[in-house]
Amino acid sequence: MEVLGIDIGGSGVKGAIVDVKTGELLTSRYRIPTPHPATPEAVLKTVEEIIEHFEWHGLMGVGYPGVVKGGKTRTAANVHERWINFPVEMELERFTGQRVRVINDADAAGLAEMRFGAGRDRDGVVVMITLGTGIGVAMFTDGHLVPNLELGHIELGGEDAEHHAADSAREREDLSWKKWGKRVDRYLYTLEKLLWPDLFIIGGGVSKDWNKFAPYLEKVNVEIVPAEMRNQAGIVGAALAGVYEGNIHTIAVE
Ligand code: BGC
Repeated sequence: MEVLGIDIGGSGVKGAIVDVKTGELLTSRYRIPTPHPATPEAVLKTVEEIIEHFEWHGLMGVGYPGVVKGGKTRTAANVHERWINFPVEMELERFTGQRVRVINDADAAGLAEMRFGAGRDRDGVVVMITLGTGIGVAMFTDGHLVPNLELGHIELGGEDAEHHAADSAREREDLSWKKWGKRVDRYLYTLEKLLWPDLFIIGGGVSKDWNKFAPYLEKVNVEIVPAEMRNQAGIVGAALAGVYEGNIHTIAVE
């Protein structure tokens, strides 16, 4: 089954047609730089350009970097504040004349990892963390997603955790892998004490540098692995959102 997946990110809006049975991209990724200011209208235009680029008329899903509930985007930590309470599904459905599912970007990445990557066939409580501009968190219990967990914003080191430990903090403060890795370690340890997961999956662009910071993840007692889908998780997961109905392990994709 083919589904269009689109990932709205801080620097780019990316899309590809995905085979949701295998998790493979059936086209190359089409990327448009995120407009600034990233207002709903400006970003939706880029989403619509991607839909037109693929001449797409079927199922589709979109990942958004904030809370999405009842078809509306509800928070806007790293995008324009006009996204708060924006009826994004309705607008896209009006444009496409089709059903469109919009979900949180970390939830999308989590769906992809749980179906095709590091969380494949894993039951119990799995927590996926994306370290990028912000910190995104997705939690699964026996394959069921608990959506919109905004645990990137718990307090850590006296500030918003994502300001302290996202990959953007490493870049902004020019932190060594060791210094940053220890911050991530503290963050994970805090989450461990709150959620008691069976597995942590670490994603986001920085997962490619796993070997550089993994040695500093010392406090955590839970199994912890890097994501496997790399920069495809957002698009593949957005496409999966287009067909997700409650359990990622048993999702119908024939
Ligand atoms: C947002 C989350 C999002 C994460 C990653 C955070 O600032 O609050 O909803 O998943 O960034 O983009």
